[in-house]
Amino acid sequence: MDTQALANVSLNQQVSPVLATTAIAEPSKQSLRNAWRYTKKVVKRVAPLLIVGVIYPPLAIVYVACGLYEVLRHGRDRAAIAHHFFLVNGGLTWALSPMNTLIDILSLPFVNKKIYKLSDFPKAYQDEIRQVTEGCPAEEIIAEVHRRRQADERTMMIYKWYGFNNAGASCSQFQKKFKYIQTIGVSTFYPQTKTSKHFGWLRAGVRVLYNIGPAPSEGAHIVVNGTKHTWCKDGPLFMFDDTVVHQSFNLTDMERHCLFIDVLRPSYCPMLLRSLIHFMGYVWTRLPFLGKHSNWRLI
Ligand SMILES: [Fe+2]
Repeated sequence: MDTQALANVSLNQQVSPVLATTAIAEPSKQSLRNAWRYTKKVVKRVAPLLIVGVIYPPLAIVYVACGLYEVLRHGRDRAAIAHHFFLVNGGLTWALSPMNTLIDILSLPFVNKKIYKLSDFPKAYQDEIRQVTEGCPAEEIIAEVHRRRQADERTMMIYKWYGFNNAGASCSQFQKKFKYIQTIGVSTFYPQTKTSKHFGWLRAGVRVLYNIGPAPSEGAHIVVNGTKHTWCKDGPLFMFDDTVVHQSFNLTDMERHCLFIDVLRPSYCPMLLRSLIHFMGYVWTRLPFLGKHSNWRLI
């Protein structure tokens, strides 16, 4: 019994003395266990930082500063976001935070808006995004997802990944050479599924989601740093910096399909960002453990 369940026991309920004793003992054991787990998590994060600090203090200072920047840039709910970022699943984003912070600086004067409108992009970027989203053969793509799917809750059909075409997929429209679009896939959520709250790891691109096929009801939505976008109400297109905390839901009884696109973020150094994305794509394909903890099945 967890402490929340214990708190929900009515005061008027008759509880046997044995059960009552157990119920009192269990929360303290549970609290100790929780405290131990929390301490282990903190030590796991702090120990490498201390080692780096002893070997080369400036690097540890950079990591502390960039980690704080990653949390503070959310501008809300900082304690919860700090907990999630440092202790739950922000590890890879933190590891790459110096590079992502540098990308923020190099992209100036284009300030990272975190949530973007199509008009925030230069015209050539907008044209590519329109070409892929509005001209998308939705029915064909969904039929292909159905042909390949198994029993997974979430699948991702990849056409292009960090600049590299997936040889196992075939769609000339998605696999031609783009100047700004670097990744194209289709994310499918089956009914009653959701992701955990999480952080993407690379800020060289902006994530574009475009709902295709029939839009499910309001239970299908995404929440990015407290801003909710519901596909049926707010439209099929949503663009955001995915290194900001976000969570996707499909709490409906319909499937939800979204084109999943990464476009270079606006800057005066697109060639540099493109090269960086290609390099990371190359590294990713050679280090498969990077995607090992994902709950997505890539098809
Ligand atoms: Fe995500």
